[in-house]
Amino acid sequence: MYGNYEVQTGTSIQELVEMCNQPNTITFVDENVLKHWSVFNLPNVISVDANENTKTLHGVGELINKFVESDATPKTKIIAIGGGIVQDAVGFIASVWCRGVDYVLVPTTLLSQIDSCVGGKTSINHIRKNILGTFWPPKEIMICTDFLNTLSETDYWSGWGEWIKYNVLRNKIDHTIQTLSSLNKGHEIEFIVDGLGYKIGIIQRDEFDKGERKFLNFGHTFGHALESASQWKIPHGYAVFIGSLIAMYVSYKLGEENEQRWEELQRFSAFGRSYLDRGCLEKSMGSFEREWFTRELIDIAKKSDKKQEGGQGLRMVLVNEDGAYLYNVENETVLEQAIEWVYNEVCK
Ligand SMILES: NC(=O)c1ccc[n+]([C@@H]2O[C@H](COP(=O)([O-])OP(=O)(O)OC[C@H]3O[C@@H](n4cnc5c(N)ncnc54)[C@H](O)[C@@H]3O)[C@@H](O)[C@H]2O)c1
Ligand SMILES: [Zn+2]
Repeated sequence: MYGNYEVQTGTSIQELVEMCNQPNTITFVDENVLKHWSVFNLPNVISVDANENTKTLHGVGELINKFVESDATPKTKIIAIGGGIVQDAVGFIASVWCRGVDYVLVPTTLLSQIDSCVGGKTSINHIRKNILGTFWPPKEIMICTDFLNTLSETDYWSGWGEWIKYNVLRNKIDHTIQTLSSLNKGHEIEFIVDGLGYKIGIIQRDEFDKGERKFLNFGHTFGHALESASQWKIPHGYAVFIGSLIAMYVSYKLGEENEQRWEELQRFSAFGRSYLDRGCLEKSMGSFEREWFTRELIDIAKKSDKKQEGGQGLRMVLVNEDGAYLYNVENETVLEQAIEWVYNEVCK
């Protein structure tokens, strides 16, 4: 077993500043976190531009240059403070620096606090999204929910996308709609503990993606394709949400097509519209473009389908009343219908 995933919640900003101030420590901090939290402007801090280009061999190479220029040694303590992008890039560096060293992770977005901080995956984009990577869990994960106060509305609501995905897998659609429709900000910790607890349960049974953990890719087949088609304009959490709706539609069409399931899907897509509005998504990225939702999305999904195990079709995680299952979808008409449906119902 690689990680024991001990997560410390309730960490204070002051505690974190003191940790970063320790000798022989280098801290990578998301540049937007540095703007909002100037207490982290310390001598041994490397600012990280949080965009998908940072998560590339070139971007990571530049960070390693700065790390070496800061007199890093094999014994240097590495701290990463930021969202999923900083986590993926710095986690990758820690996994290869001197053949792997410990690092401390301080997630600062809701998405990274509720989901990505556990599981130990590091990822680099290379032609395709997240195609290079390592399993390298942090030694410590320290969560401070104060960071959530400075997130933009768009980044804040993006984080819920992964929690919603967990709830689809747990068959808790109506609970999700009720919870998020009446949510007051400031109570996230309860959901962070819930989300991480669910994910940790799965990875403790399947740490290396051999079986059950693959279900956590629910919504990601088309989620990643949409990120790519929109050239990363759609943030990850929303892309996963829209990808989850597509997967639910496909599940319905290829499953029993019962009335109850259809009504549930209707309630969920209506909720989806208000979820995207609440995150002011179209204000921040512009409107959804029609050409992101064409047949081509299927080809993008096929090309980057990491779960593909040969054969025709697209290997997807689908759901029914009993939970998730892997299915090789060969019926492209249904896939096209699902894309059209999600565009018309939720994104148009
Ligand atoms: N390793 C994994 O298991 C895993 C899981 C899910 C997603 N991911 C990856 O994570 C990335 C998305 O991560 P994310 O959603 O956390 O977004 P992100 O890291 O892109 O951050 C989103 C934005 O928020 C800013 N920001 C971060 N913290 C802030 C704060 N406290 N206050 C103000 N602004 C802040 C960033 O600068 C950025 O502009 C994707 O690349 C995705 O592939 C990785
Ligand atoms: Zn994800």
